[in-house]
Amino acid sequence: MEQDMQSLNDFNVGQGTRPLAGIPLVRLPGSARASGLDMDARRGLSQTPKRLPPKYFYDGRGSLLFERICETPEYYPTRTESALLERHACGILNQVAPGTLVEIGSGSSVKTNHFFVACERAGRYCRYQPFDVCDEALRAAAARLKHRYPWLDMELLVGDYAVDLLALPHSQGPRLFLFLGGTIGNLNHEEALTFLATLRAAMHAEDYLLLGFDRIKDKRVLDAAYNDAHGYTAQFNMNVLRVLNTQLDANFDEHQFMHVAFFNEDERQVEMHLKARCAHTVTLARIDLVASFARDETILTEISRKFTPAGMKALLEAAGFRWCRHEESDNGYFSLALAAPA
Ligand code: SAH
Ligand code: AVI
Repeated sequence: MEQDMQSLNDFNVGQGTRPLAGIPLVRLPGSARASGLDMDARRGLSQTPKRLPPKYFYDGRGSLLFERICETPEYYPTRTESALLERHACGILNQVAPGTLVEIGSGSSVKTNHFFVACERAGRYCRYQPFDVCDEALRAAAARLKHRYPWLDMELLVGDYAVDLLALPHSQGPRLFLFLGGTIGNLNHEEALTFLATLRAAMHAEDYLLLGFDRIKDKRVLDAAYNDAHGYTAQFNMNVLRVLNTQLDANFDEHQFMHVAFFNEDERQVEMHLKARCAHTVTLARIDLVASFARDETILTEISRKFTPAGMKALLEAAGFRWCRHEESDNGYFSLALAAPA
């Protein structure tokens, strides 16, 4: 475990920037991960309560930490969704007959394997456009996929799904858009509605969206999932402070903060906070900002909303989609919804 964390701490983000032979990488306008960071940090750390957008977790180290979280026994979403995809990938491929899979927030692309295996079984091959803000994660995933599926034609898209959906390069249709992992829950209601309506506007009549969403469940299960015993979620949460230190020449000290995560039953969302252990100030030299923290003051770093199928159906319909298919795990922990332009 010590050694394990050491290798993460030594992670050199530069190693993810090597070019990948033969695999094109397109930088969309929102691709500079830090592009909005100056403004988001200034605004988020000047307001009460303080908050930061979750996309800044995901530098190379943050993406690796997320992968570690996914392997913990407490974090059920990944293995539950993976089992659903394993069971239904073939049926979904038959229903959609996609020319291209476009995966939004693709990360390590591990669960997407189920579609590539299904392609091989059916002898029907498609293109893959993974789209993520973290180019290190995209490159690492592409290298793994190319090794395992030499036939796979890929185009890597680096960008921000809050700004780049209408700038996605065209590809062979029908397209099956994947938005997995419950990442829709990291957007508040207005953001989710805007995201889905914009995606709907970018889609053609024959395209589909496969959306993975996490379900409301026992608070104890949710609290445990975001407080894993290995401490990976805590490290992931703290990683945003490292990003601010590196990108904005800030002097956050992780030891001055603690990871706090809990299911807020009224809001139906898990909230992750960083809570100041004592009163202190932090300087962000590059944006000329001094942030003062009272003891126990928090920064809200992520919301992870949990849904009912009816709630998700209403959200999709409000964004202009038609609810076509719903698959859920036996324990009702996680769902996949297949939707098409209405
Ligand atoms: N889909 C994968 C990864 C989920 S983690 C899974 O289900 O396991 C969320 C992913 O979204 C990360 O890879 C992160 O880098 C990416 N991401 C977060 N905010 C983003 C944004 N604004 N634009 C594009 N990608 C984003
Ligand atoms: C990416 N996203 C869906 C994860 C979630 O569960 O909200 C991110 C995460 N945060 C803490 N653990 C995992």
